[in-house]
Amino acid sequence: MEQKLNELKENLKAELKIATKEADLLNIKSTYIGKKSEISLLLSNLKDMSIEDKKIYGSLINNTKKEMESIINNRLEELENKSNITFDDTIDYPINTGSLHPITIIAKEITDILKRMGFTVVTGPEMESEYYNFEALNVPKDHPARDMQDTYFLDNGMLLRTQTSDNQIHAMENYGAPLRICAPGRVFRNEDLDANHENTFFQIEGMVIDKGVSIENLLYVMQNLLREIFQENVLVRLRPGFFPFTEPSYEMDMSCLICGGKGCPTCKNSGWIEMVGSGMIHPNVLKAGGINPDEYTGFAFGFGLTRLAMMKYKINDIRVLNSGDIRYLKEFNIN
Ligand code: DAH
Repeated sequence: MEQKLNELKENLKAELKIATKEADLLNIKSTYIGKKSEISLLLSNLKDMSIEDKKIYGSLINNTKKEMESIINNRLEELENKSNITFDDTIDYPINTGSLHPITIIAKEITDILKRMGFTVVTGPEMESEYYNFEALNVPKDHPARDMQDTYFLDNGMLLRTQTSDNQIHAMENYGAPLRICAPGRVFRNEDLDANHENTFFQIEGMVIDKGVSIENLLYVMQNLLREIFQENVLVRLRPGFFPFTEPSYEMDMSCLICGGKGCPTCKNSGWIEMVGSGMIHPNVLKAGGINPDEYTGFAFGFGLTRLAMMKYKINDIRVLNSGDIRYLKEFNIN
């Protein structure tokens, strides 16, 4: 018996020597002194022994078990102390803080302003059906307006949305009237790239539907938004525009802040940057969203979020924003 117990002890020590992880040690512990271990079996066999044998072997086995337990626990403790050493909080590590992307910052700023005006923030899918991206927005197949928004058509019959305006239909379907939503998001177009054009950029859509909503409400919201974003009275101009989903439609430009209105590659030398498309929601669009145009009116607008970020942070080339160039993006260390 003594020999058997010594053997167990030696085997245990040999296994502990090569174990390096806590999990291994715990496995060894259960094998050697757990309920189903050999030593536990020996202990349970004691009941069949004579009283004398019980006395002799009982204490021998029990002592060996205790000894084995303390060997294992010492080893566990050793391992724990060793791993603690790696967490030395007296060492002064340099910490590189990251920052939010300029688009994320401007999106948060503008949604915060809109939320204060009572808008709810919603999001929609980037992979969209032709119906939500075009048809429901009063842009039927073969409409010339589709030419300006060429995009990527997917094998599954869907497309990458060209505008956040798809949210107008989703929101009307989901919430009905009255309604006040804004929807920031990524959009895609098949574009030739230059300082002011990317195939992937960001917009924010806004839409208000209620009884008696008018153009004055639209202008008020636009002006306040720009003033709050730039914290100054920026020079804006309103032009009549055309969008199939609004009637009448407007385009709002702001004076290029990169060149101060003198003309540069970012503003195509015009001194103005197109920022917002907007207008009174076309009755066909309201109908597509299940809202009665005789009862409700509304306005909608789509801001170029990417352009807004470029103006606000004086970024003169749009391609920087998707480049993932940390040296450049690091400058926006606003968390
Ligand atoms: N979706 C338009 C675009 O990408 C922008 C736009 C124009 C949005 C007029 C609107 C709107 O909501 O009313 O060019």
